[in-house]
Amino acid sequence: MSEPTNPGSRASLDLEAFPPDFAWGTATSAYQIEGAVTEDGRAPSIWDTFCRIPGAVDNGDHGDTACDHYHRWPEDIALMKALGTDAYRLSVAWPRIVPGGDGPVNKAGIDFYDRLVDGLLDAGITPSVTLYHWDLPQALQDRVRDSHGGWTERATAEHLAAYASVVAERLGDRVTQWATLNEPLCSGWIGHLEGRMAPGLTDITAAVRASYHLLLGHGLTTQAIRAAAPGAQVGLVTNHSTVEAASTRPEDVAAAARMDGHTNRWWLDPVYGRGFPADMRELYGVELPERQGDLETIAAPLDWHGLNYYFPVTVTDDPTGPVPYAREVRLPEVPRTGMDWQVDAGGLEALLLRLTEDYGIRKLYVTENGSAYPDTVGPDGEIHDPERTRYQEDHVAACARALRKGAPLAGYYAWSLLDNFEWAYGYDKRFGLVHVDYATQKRTVKTSGRRYADIIRAHRQAATG
Ligand code: IFM
Repeated sequence: MSEPTNPGSRASLDLEAFPPDFAWGTATSAYQIEGAVTEDGRAPSIWDTFCRIPGAVDNGDHGDTACDHYHRWPEDIALMKALGTDAYRLSVAWPRIVPGGDGPVNKAGIDFYDRLVDGLLDAGITPSVTLYHWDLPQALQDRVRDSHGGWTERATAEHLAAYASVVAERLGDRVTQWATLNEPLCSGWIGHLEGRMAPGLTDITAAVRASYHLLLGHGLTTQAIRAAAPGAQVGLVTNHSTVEAASTRPEDVAAAARMDGHTNRWWLDPVYGRGFPADMRELYGVELPERQGDLETIAAPLDWHGLNYYFPVTVTDDPTGPVPYAREVRLPEVPRTGMDWQVDAGGLEALLLRLTEDYGIRKLYVTENGSAYPDTVGPDGEIHDPERTRYQEDHVAACARALRKGAPLAGYYAWSLLDNFEWAYGYDKRFGLVHVDYATQKRTVKTSGRRYADIIRAHRQAATG
């Protein structure tokens, strides 16, 4: 890699605030990068199915080939090493390991992750493994018993835990850091209420049931990993936004409280022993599929918590809109990413402090943070992405401020190592620190990737004096 991009701004990032053993990493997920969807015994997931619904995904894109990481992983590990990262957050594809959702284990599927983990360790990169990043085996979605199949059924939570034990038994001698779920909010709300993600339902009853079973699955999986891999450090990865009212009108203030309940409290309160928030239960008006002991299972103490942060939201009351009757307003003059998401690094600092102070979390990671912008390859073959570079610098600086104020932050994973399949937005939205030319699968480190490498190097220098 070439010369440092901006060594002069080290002081403004306050890298001295980061502990010497702070983990700098990158993150990806299986369906977004692997491709090889029919290889070595993998069965379809709900995303393979969703991508085939006309109009569901921009440009009719799908993950059939994606970044071809299934075959190119050695090259991708070399990229991580070139960036100087310490850690890599990956997800395991359930439909590769237990293609039917439950039942027989596919040895070829787990062999892939075995090789990947060994490759990472050989490169000096610590793997952090997420068990569920949205690619539910389609077979479980098709198994309709009490409700709509998939996460609306209690059995899915149990199957997740059983699949997790298979993975933890095989990889647990080398992998220490485990996450049960990635962003249950997206699986629950976007997949079952808004219909913009797989399985594409728009039903509040299904959504509430799914959210409940996802959290139950998290609790059961926490137990399963610990039983299979003693010494495992188990956490949950959730995505959050700070929520502001658009005005001081009482209706807007109440709308902001509802949105906060929907986006933040619903997913955190039960995990941290407070049960499901009563105000939101009343708002949803759906009976929870609760059984005795579930709340204790969901609230099993964790070793760490992962925060995925991208944007804050500002909302106004919307009594005739969808649950939670709070609509995002567009603030004038606020910078936005290519996803049309507001840019505000202060939200990251605020959420890290809220998780520390309100929920008493003792070890935190930023497990995802990053931005999509419409990159272009310059005549020099380089990808100059000043907006993404700035976004990352500002968010790293926000981590430093949170650390100075007492947040127990142990690592930061940039989303994403590679441009990849951005779900319903397909391949047009590029989040990578490394550009991927999908026609040739050529990888090119962007300016933001080089800047990240500089930050990591500068922190190491600061840490070792
Ligand atoms: O690409 C996603 C990822 O899968 C989950 N967190 C948010 C990212 C950007 O939208």
